[in-house]
Amino acid sequence: MNLLLFGPPGAGKGTQSTFLVEKLDMRHISTGDLFRSAMKNNTELGQKAKQYMDKGQLVPDEIVIGMVEEKLKSLSGQSFILDGFPRTEPQAQALDKLLDQLNLKLDWVVSLSVPDETLISRLTGRRVCKACGAVYHTDSKPTQKEGVCDVCGGEVIQRADDKEEVIKDRLEVYRKNTAPLIDYYQAQNKLLDIDGTGATEAVFERIKEAVTK
Ligand code: AP5
Repeated sequence: MNLLLFGPPGAGKGTQSTFLVEKLDMRHISTGDLFRSAMKNNTELGQKAKQYMDKGQLVPDEIVIGMVEEKLKSLSGQSFILDGFPRTEPQAQALDKLLDQLNLKLDWVVSLSVPDETLISRLTGRRVCKACGAVYHTDSKPTQKEGVCDVCGGEVIQRADDKEEVIKDRLEVYRKNTAPLIDYYQAQNKLLDIDGTGATEAVFERIKEAVTK
């Protein structure tokens, strides 16, 4: 089974992908994580992406599509979860073409619905480990020792694009460029609208039930 996790910034795509990888043994393809890793390694791709990401803008389609193509081609029969891609109609069309070429199929698009005020509080409180990428929240999932990752002992920081002024721009970019894809996938009969509020485990149970019914 291949899934696309869809939703606004802070909807819980990354969090739910972690559950899916652990419990259903799927391969996680997150364009945001791929860009952050390129930024950490200071590659040319990372430097380019940083100019857009720090401002909450979308990285140009051709860069993102090429990167996803490479990842999909490297799958060796394993099920995958797409997280954060596609985000524009050209990306969605390119994905359909790519899947066709590679003889792959997207089974479901899981759309996580969360009200704006919850998104904002999730994003302003999110903290991430610089070393291993583990995700925390100052209120709902704090680290045991402030600023130190429970998993690897690395430094836990706030993402540059999780500052309040950038969050507003990200939400606007989502509404303008990405939300219209809900209709795109509805027309393909692939959309599953899931309530993304409540405990993370409860959200996971909702997803599991919807995709396996
Ligand atoms: P990306 O990294 O994809 O960011 P995003 O889509 O904005 O999503 P987030 O990572 O912010 O949120 P999430 O839904 O994964 O939430 P999470 O699980 O962490 O992209 C970053 C940037 O890269 C973009 O702005 C763009 O510049 C660029 N980019 C990436 N893909 C691109 C593309 N395709 N095209 C162009 N540009 C692209 O949860 C958030 C917080 O809430 C965490 O602290 C978590 O602990 C907490 N939380 C989660 N679930 C719950 C719950 N149920 N209850 C309580 N707390 C919860």
